[in-house]
Amino acid sequence: MNIDKILVATTNKGKLKEFKRLFSELGIEILSLDDMPEKITVEETGETFLENAIQKARTYALHYKLPTIAEDAGLEIDALVGYPGVYSARFYELEEFGGKELVEESKDKANIKKVLRLMEGVENRKARFVSVVVFYMPRDFGLWTEGYCYGEITEKPVGEGGFGYDPIFKPEGYGKTMAQMTPEEKNAISHRGEAVRKLINLLKKVIS
Ligand code: IMP
Repeated sequence: MNIDKILVATTNKGKLKEFKRLFSELGIEILSLDDMPEKITVEETGETFLENAIQKARTYALHYKLPTIAEDAGLEIDALVGYPGVYSARFYELEEFGGKELVEESKDKANIKKVLRLMEGVENRKARFVSVVVFYMPRDFGLWTEGYCYGEITEKPVGEGGFGYDPIFKPEGYGKTMAQMTPEEKNAISHRGEAVRKLINLLKKVIS
């Protein structure tokens, strides 16, 4: 199988940077949705990360006729029975868990505010990031992998790096949050890093 370009189905600059860095060893050109001529939208209506990732990868691959990688990821907090989960990107706007959170500076900050409000005084702060990555070749072939990163929710946001919930997530065995890590440090231990490395190992077996 010959692959020279892969579309990564995201417009999230933080995620795209992480994908490009992780894929650099394969020498395959990475495109994003921002490079595509016309835009289509795919609703994320699945109840699992895998359902959402397959739906995105398949739709974009068939539309743009390009091998496509889609990821669905999120944060699962034990004390919130696995929430925000598949709602991680828009947790702030859910009525559940004490109502909506106002977006002042950004959606990421509103999500963090809601989580910290719910976690106030909660002793069990265990959480994990989950990443499910799907690779879909138009009509031909598909692969999927998953990765996890275990840790805990901090009392307040710390650090400027990364994106999303990084400032309030302290990985197990580290004295700092993901937002205080360099991109290399984060990729080495992150859910996305693990899922993408597994995918790259599988792809190496099938591409020439
Ligand atoms: P989606 O996979 O693009 O739907 O992203 C879901 C949401 O999960 C993001 O908007 C972030 O809030 C969160 N998320 C996913 N991966 C990470 C990460 O590596 N760090 C922090 N937050 C993340």
